Amino acid sequence: MTRLIHLTDLHFGLHRTDLVTPLRDAVLSCKADAVVVSGDLTQRARPAQFRAAMTFLTGLNLPFLAVPGNHDVPLFNPVLRLFDPFGRYRRGALRDMTPGLRIGRLRLFGINTADPLVVRGGIARPDQIDRVCTAMRQESEDVTNILVAHHPFEEPPDFVRGETKGAPAALQRMTQAGLQVILSGHLHHWTTGLGIAADAARPVFQLHGGTALCARLGEQDHGFAVLDFAADARLTVTAWMVDEGAGRFVPRPGSVFARRGGGWVRAA
Ligand SMILES: [Fe+2]
Ligand SMILES: [Fe+2]
Repeated sequence: MTRLIHLTDLHFGLHRTDLVTPLRDAVLSCKADAVVVSGDLTQRARPAQFRAAMTFLTGLNLPFLAVPGNHDVPLFNPVLRLFDPFGRYRRGALRDMTPGLRIGRLRLFGINTADPLVVRGGIARPDQIDRVCTAMRQESEDVTNILVAHHPFEEPPDFVRGETKGAPAALQRMTQAGLQVILSGHLHHWTTGLGIAADAARPVFQLHGGTALCARLGEQDHGFAVLDFAADARLTVTAWMVDEGAGRFVPRPGSVFARRGGGWVRAA
């Protein structure tokens, strides 16, 4: 079994300072093989905010893969936003905005969907999708291909905003190339296995993570997800959500999915 932790929308700079240590403790207690962070590491892409995010992530002492979100581009500095939108991310966080990681039989691909030309929206850049598709086609059958992106490629029914430019075509191409899982964030709303039911298979398992730490007014359901990929093509997803009274993250009952005939179904 390979265990991944999916964190998203940390928003360092406008984050729940009281939850940082409980989040760290909970993540470490899971004994995961790697951590994935699907963007919005910071609230306003300020150097100190990137430092705080990286201090947290490197302090976990686990392999991790992170990609930028729309909040990791400076918003109030038009010169930087236009001429060097990802400079602060690359200098203050991670140079590689399309990182890859191989853990056991999992192959992870990170892409950068943040679009400096719009405030919230994202974009599936064709050159990045091309590279991911080419790499996935070269993987053997027993490898699970996982995409990590900030913006969702398909939105849940209550959140249909069409925010990710080029997403439908990119999703179709990546599915044909062997994509099996997408881990994304941005919506600050949890959806585990979009559209998948016991009798409704989907080729791609999509997990939209809620925010782990964001302190914006009205934010709730802070948490993270643990994904256990078993050798028998079963995937168990366990959401660890904050217990506000206890001031710590606790696991909820897990959901089990199974890969059958080229698609995911919800298992009993
Ligand atoms: Fe966010
Ligand atoms: Fe976002």
